[in-house]
Amino acid sequence: MQLEMPTPDLQSAPPAEADQSSDGQLSVRNASKFFPSLTGDGQVCVFRDVSLEIANGEFVSIIGHSGCGKSTLLNIIAGFDQPTSGEILVDGKKVHGPGLDRMVVFQSFALMPWMSAFDNVRVAVRSAFPSWDSKQVAQHTTRYLHLMGLTDIGKKMPAHLSGGMRQRVGLARAFAVQPKALLLDEPFAQIDALTRGSIQDELIRMWDVAGATVCMVTHDVDEAILLSDRIALMTNGPEARVAEIVDINIPRPRTREQLIESDDYMRLRTRILRFLIDHNRRPTALDDTAHAMDAYPQSDASVSD
Ligand SMILES: Nc1ncnc2c1ncn2[C@@H]1O[C@H](COP(=O)(O)OP(=O)(O)O)[C@@H](O)[C@H]1O
Ligand SMILES: [Mg+2]
Repeated sequence: MQLEMPTPDLQSAPPAEADQSSDGQLSVRNASKFFPSLTGDGQVCVFRDVSLEIANGEFVSIIGHSGCGKSTLLNIIAGFDQPTSGEILVDGKKVHGPGLDRMVVFQSFALMPWMSAFDNVRVAVRSAFPSWDSKQVAQHTTRYLHLMGLTDIGKKMPAHLSGGMRQRVGLARAFAVQPKALLLDEPFAQIDALTRGSIQDELIRMWDVAGATVCMVTHDVDEAILLSDRIALMTNGPEARVAEIVDINIPRPRTREQLIESDDYMRLRTRILRFLIDHNRRPTALDDTAHAMDAYPQSDASVSD
């Protein structure tokens, strides 16, 4: 891939305490999740029997309508929540809770507001690599901020940064820990369209340079095709399931200009949109914020939230 900025020498980083082995295989095995029903008389199944194998270094997106359980699934992979049945494995080992081997980037940025951008990344680096001295921690932090195009804003507080800048800090923090897997929950949903494009490019550049298995939840079909090796399509809840997994066999590096000229892209886009329209949103007892998809946007291939 062509890099627009000098690539920091990630290989020369000192050995680290966070789990840095080259593997990062994520396995979701027959995972089901039930929540207590809103009426309090029983349980509602959000998704049932979801299985997904994500290979080391692979970029897989999960796409589906609002309320189908994407964030619930990602939280379970992160270890913030437990599946009602089934299991999550990282490199064959069962996940019992959160860990630095799986970093999550949320739509809402989730930066610590009382810390500068630099310190937000630095504290994560310090906890991932406790034997490093402060100089090593600072160098590593600077390197990852630089990779996300954040060389000059380190001293700024999150409140003084745009949404795009905040999410760059969130991504720099997540990658700087050198996790096995990066879990992204609609990371660009609150960012304007133009900025979103450049952060997507930076994400791919970072993924290309730093590596990591990525599992991204999105409701944006174009974003999913641009970024992913495979896309898992989820049906609506309750009892959602992964109905199809679509291979995105479009060579990398991918540019938006090439994609829109590509027959493969149009074919994949149509297939995924067709799936989403066929699984059009129906209000369910699970989700009282449901809204119909009859206003499905034609020009913007995203699933309305
Ligand atoms: N803690 C919870 N208790 C009860 N229901 C929940 C809880 N978390 C999520 N849900 C329900 O589970 C469903 C899936 O939610 P979510 O995973 O946020 O969907 P998505 O991310 O696909 O929009 C929704 O109907 C939501 O209301
Ligand atoms: Mg969600």
